[in-house]
Amino acid sequence: MSPKLKPHHSPALLAALTAVGSVLALAGGALWQHWPQTALWHAVFAVGAMPMIFAAMTYFTPVLTRTPEAPRSLAAIPLVALLAALGIVTWFVQGVATLRHLAPWLGMGATLAFCYWIGRRWRTCLGRPHACLRWYAAALACLAAGLAAVGLSAILPAYAGPLRAFHLHINTLGFIGLTAIGTLQVLLPTVLGQPDPAAPRRLARDLPWSVAGTLAIAVGASGGWPLAALGAIVYAWPLGRLLVDTMRAFGPRLWQPRQAAPLLLAAMGGLMLVLGHGLLHGAGIGNARDALPVFLIGFLLPLVSGAVTQLLPVWLRPGVQAAWQKSQRWRLAALARTRAVLLLAGGLLAATGTEFGLVLGVLGALWLLVAMLDAARREFSSAPSR
Ligand code: HEM
Repeated sequence: MSPKLKPHHSPALLAALTAVGSVLALAGGALWQHWPQTALWHAVFAVGAMPMIFAAMTYFTPVLTRTPEAPRSLAAIPLVALLAALGIVTWFVQGVATLRHLAPWLGMGATLAFCYWIGRRWRTCLGRPHACLRWYAAALACLAAGLAAVGLSAILPAYAGPLRAFHLHINTLGFIGLTAIGTLQVLLPTVLGQPDPAAPRRLARDLPWSVAGTLAIAVGASGGWPLAALGAIVYAWPLGRLLVDTMRAFGPRLWQPRQAAPLLLAAMGGLMLVLGHGLLHGAGIGNARDALPVFLIGFLLPLVSGAVTQLLPVWLRPGVQAAWQKSQRWRLAALARTRAVLLLAGGLLAATGTEFGLVLGVLGALWLLVAMLDAARREFSSAPSR
């Protein structure tokens, strides 16, 4: 049967695109050094991760606000974000000036439209929405600020350096980082089938610290090393507490085989590694060039791998299909512990500038891609079209 793509497939497609972008960024960056590296990084962060996060938030927001599923038309927003990302990649490769000016504001349009939708869901929610929604709002504000920075840098070239530093830090640690920290605290209890009663209070308490840390890092990265270092500590403190709380709450169950938790745990460790590496390179030890590989291999890849393991079956077959979804999860979680260790090790090696770390990252991304394609093949060859 030929595959019939539906709007509810979009998070899955965009996660696959993130895996492809990761291979391009890691392998392409190492093998073809004359390629524009910024284009390769945007293949994973802007073409893959940015629209994927919009699509994932589209899935989670109704759950967090206890409102009906998102309308199908909302799938247009990740597509507009994807268009903006493709526009900026085309500029990096071909130098089409109009795209350099247009892409940041198109991405901003998608972000604001999405914020408007979240705001409406927030208001229609009976009672308070889950505290994770505030993390999404903060993450989207970071994305908007980061896009404004590169939008402005095109018309204020004298400030291009600091604006670029602001853009890259606020997008990685703010947009992707805050989305991840919020989502992990909703996802882990679901993966393990055990509620975490401390999560809502922790989410509410930690958000101001994580936002303040992100802002201090992003502003400090443009020249104020002490501010950036202070920001990294402020950001790392609640994250470290989250790691400890998580281990206390779930204990050895986190490390059980054939489920997503080891990968999600590795992602938390990887984000700590990113902060540690940032502190060291700010102090003149370590190389700033290694920061993006560390972020991608040690943090983003285990995060997306873990989230996909848990959510791909629901994205492929929404609704109550418990037995099918469980069996797909079991397959997707093959070697989850080994993959978690290898990705974290890859991140550590990348932090020391060892190229073998990139090989581990490429293998992790390829594994994810093949596992996703296998699950999709089974869905499309067996299911009647929904
Ligand atoms: C439509 C969306 C985006 C646009 C239009 C955009 C635009 C840009 C531009 C113009 C630069 C280069 C600035 C310069 O060199 O002066 C840049 C750099 C960068 N951006 Fe983006 N960006 C987007 C999304 C993202 C996202 C979502 C992330 C990460 C989460 C990201 C991470 C980075 C990084 C890491 C760099 C520095 C890359 C390097 O040093 O090679 N960008 N971006």
